[in-house]
Amino acid sequence: MSEFTLPAVLRSISPSVGVVLGSGLGGFADMLDGAKTCDYADIAGLPVSKVAGHSGRLYLGTLGGVELVVAQGRVHLYEGWSAKETAAVIRLFHELGVRSVVLTNAAGIVNANLKPGRWMLISDHLNLTRQSPLTGSGQFVDQTEVYSKELRDLLRAESLELTGTRLSEGIYAWVNGPEYETPAEIWMLRTLGADAVGMSTVPESIQARALGMRVVALSCLTNFGAGLSPHPLNHEEVIQAGKAAAGELFTLLKSAIPAMVEI
Ligand code: HPA
Repeated sequence: MSEFTLPAVLRSISPSVGVVLGSGLGGFADMLDGAKTCDYADIAGLPVSKVAGHSGRLYLGTLGGVELVVAQGRVHLYEGWSAKETAAVIRLFHELGVRSVVLTNAAGIVNANLKPGRWMLISDHLNLTRQSPLTGSGQFVDQTEVYSKELRDLLRAESLELTGTRLSEGIYAWVNGPEYETPAEIWMLRTLGADAVGMSTVPESIQARALGMRVVALSCLTNFGAGLSPHPLNHEEVIQAGKAAAGELFTLLKSAIPAMVEI
C-alpha cells in the first residue's frame, strides 16, 4: 500500500530524475518546460514544514526533453522530524518512477582549502546524528558508494567544460543543528575527515540508495565553519550566499541532467 495519496497532477507523470533544492535555489524550477506544480500540503503522507515560508512545493516538467520532478523545500531533524520523515520526499520520487536523484544543500566549510561561494560535489558522508531513515525497516544496506561515481564523473566533466574550472569534491558531515558548530566542533569534524558540514541531504541519500536509485549531491559552500573566519555566522548570510551561487548550479544541471539519463 502506498504511503502517499497523490493528487491528480502527480498521477499522469513519469519523471526519471528527481531534484531536491536547498534554500535559495528555488529559481531552478523556472527553467522547466511545461511546468506544473503542487503543494506538499496536497500530498497526504508528505511532511510539511512548520517553519513559515518553507512549506514546500513540487514542480513537474521537462528539461532538455527529460521529465523531472523538483522538490523545493525540505524538512529537517532540527524541526523535530524523524530521519524517516526527512526522507519522505525520496520515497515519493521512487513511487513516481524516479531512477536518479540530485540533491543540493547549503554547507559550512570545514576544510579551509575550500572557498565560500563555490560548489562541492559530495563524494561520501559522515552521519554524526546517529539517526537513520531506515530505522525500523530491517534493511542492512551497503554504503560503499552512496554517491554514484559515474554521475560524479559526469558532473565534474560538464563543469570543467562549462566553466574551465574543476568542481571540488569532498566529504559532507551531517549534524543535527539547528545551532551552528563551535570552533572545537569544526576542528573535530576536520580531524574526522570532513570537508563540509550541514544539516540535511544524508537521510535522503541513504533512503534513495536503499530504494536502488542513483544519487549525486552538491553542497553550496556558503560560509567558513566557526573558528575558520574571524566573523560569527549569520543565517541570512548563508541564504544570500546560496542565492548568489545558484546561477552556476542551474547552468551545470541544465547540461548535466539530460546527459544523466543516457548513462
Ligand atoms: N554549519 C552547519 N550547517 C550549515 C552551515 C554551517 O556552517 N552553513 C550552512 N549550513
